[in-house]
Amino acid sequence: MSHKPKFEKDYYERCASEGMDYAYYGNWQKQYVKMVIFVTQIYMNDLSNKVFLDVGTACGATLLAFKETKIFEKCIGIDTSEFLVALGNEKFNFKKGELIVENSTTMESIKDNSIDLLHCSQLFEYLSESDANITLEQFKRVMKTGSIGFINISTIKEKQNKSQLTMLSEKVWKEKIKEYGFTLKKDTIKLMKQAAFFPGNDKRNFYEHYIDDWSVFTFTK
Ligand SMILES: C[S@@+](CC[C@H](N)C(=O)[O-])C[C@H]1O[C@@H](n2cnc3c(N)ncnc32)[C@H](O)[C@@H]1O
Repeated sequence: MSHKPKFEKDYYERCASEGMDYAYYGNWQKQYVKMVIFVTQIYMNDLSNKVFLDVGTACGATLLAFKETKIFEKCIGIDTSEFLVALGNEKFNFKKGELIVENSTTMESIKDNSIDLLHCSQLFEYLSESDANITLEQFKRVMKTGSIGFINISTIKEKQNKSQLTMLSEKVWKEKIKEYGFTLKKDTIKLMKQAAFFPGNDKRNFYEHYIDDWSVFTFTK
């Protein structure tokens, strides 16, 4: 039996009623993006004319936080949900072409070798394994040589959630990322521990809050 979720209005309303409003933008997103930039060390690269891509961005709240850092020439977010993309465009006033309906398995509007930082949070666990593989092939296609990827996935560290199709272990995801030709960065977790950015008011950083649920991978092409 398929548990494939539909990411349209019902999904949005269900998540919002459970406290996860994808159209909410605030301090959490701003802090999270600072943490991602610190962990990927993207600020150590020459950032002129750099392009950022968020895959599975929902309404683009994280995309907006990346945009507001003003360190990228262009920020693009893609999501397969027409409802979430329309809501994000209405709520956050993105410019044409910034938040678009696009599937991670095709990414038709994203050019080859065009992305400097690719971010993808909580998408892979919702894809079938074959779509996850095709998505990694697409990452390879759109990322520039020397660019950086940051993926955040719920793995089997967490209790199985019925709506999630592909619950693999951290080790299996690491092998998969390498198999698709990327080089995993070794210091990701060390940097996450050091990153002094806080999702709430309790002085616990993202590592302390989320490491039991998330597996985080950074890699280069
Ligand atoms: C759990 S939400 C995560 C949203 C956001 N990245 C975050 O971390 O808050 C999963 C998102 O992936 C999107 N999605 C699912 N399958 C997709 C696909 N094949 N291509 C692009 N987006 C997809 C859904 O519409 C949904 O917005």
